[in-house]
Amino acid sequence: MVGMAVTGSGSAMPAAALDNHALSNLVETSDDWVTTRTGIRQRRVAGPTESLVQLSALAAREAIAMAGLTPKDLDAIVLATSTPDDLFGSAGKIQKELEAPQAVAFDLTAACSGFLFGLVTIAQFLRTGTYRNALVIGADILSRWVDWRDRRTCVLFGDGAGAVVVQATSDRDRLLGFELRSDGSQNDCLQLPYQGKPYHLVDEVDITQGNYQPIFMNGKEVFRFAVKRVPEAIEKALFRAQMDIEQVDWLLLHQANQRILDAVGDRLQVPSEKILSNLATYGNTSAASIPIVLDEAVRADKIQPGDVIAASGFGAGLSWGAAIFEWGR
Ligand code: COA
Repeated sequence: MVGMAVTGSGSAMPAAALDNHALSNLVETSDDWVTTRTGIRQRRVAGPTESLVQLSALAAREAIAMAGLTPKDLDAIVLATSTPDDLFGSAGKIQKELEAPQAVAFDLTAACSGFLFGLVTIAQFLRTGTYRNALVIGADILSRWVDWRDRRTCVLFGDGAGAVVVQATSDRDRLLGFELRSDGSQNDCLQLPYQGKPYHLVDEVDITQGNYQPIFMNGKEVFRFAVKRVPEAIEKALFRAQMDIEQVDWLLLHQANQRILDAVGDRLQVPSEKILSNLATYGNTSAASIPIVLDEAVRADKIQPGDVIAASGFGAGLSWGAAIFEWGR
């Protein structure tokens, strides 16, 4: 084994759409404010009968079919999410839904960078020949954790799931270069923190019991961080791939804000027609955003086999990273 190839993609969205006009009945905002500042017009939100496992399994089945595999062929399933149905992890339940008994399944948490971190993590197993076929899912239901009274955050996020199949290759590695980074000193810029109240258990022993607090974000800091760090990471990954930005066919950034996409494109001098975006319809779907846009572009015959993709995820942690890969076998 010498490398890996991304050979299938899939995505699944919740049924209910929530547009900016509807949101303006919840908080003091307007379609004009949200579209001008973010490019987002609507987002999907998961209803009571939809779960993260269900959406992930739908996306996964599509990706597996496109790759020409069956779930029984899978050796590993990585679920990148910050919003599992179960805090112990949801990947095991997806493995059961898919009927993929051979696959080791585990969750990976790196917020909006999760899918990219998952892709690079699983690539290492494929490159060493440990596994042959793997599934990387990015899925989030942030609507569960958004403060729907906070107009600074509730207009940004949406729910969804995306997945890719990655396979070991014996001829050539299609993962051409990558860069993964973290900066915990800026952790307080974007959080979904546990907050517990002290609880006296027994004798001298005190613990805490509590819950997760809604998403908190310093929007301006996160914006500054993304516009600086994302181009740096892409340039580093390109350097490792020994490539120039002109050789990249598609810029596939985490869908956080159209202004971030435009600013990164400007810094890297990538023309807008090479920058993939579906922010208007889905908003920021966290770990799901990269595989969802990828799947859309593949199914629309925009991305063709052999196309070079520069992908970058960024978000809470703070965490960020980039991967340069060729689509297809
Ligand atoms: N509707 C109307 N007004 C709003 C609003 C909304 N949804 N959200 C904020 N405002 C108001 C603010 O209250 C503020 O008013 P004030 O000056 O009277 O206090 C004003 O608009 C400007 O707010 P500010 O937060 O400075 O706006 P901004 O230009 O920084 O844009 C973001 C806000 C969130 C769009 C922008 O900071 C951003 O996109 N940051 C990155 C966030 C992100 O991508 N996070 C996820 C990363 S994975």
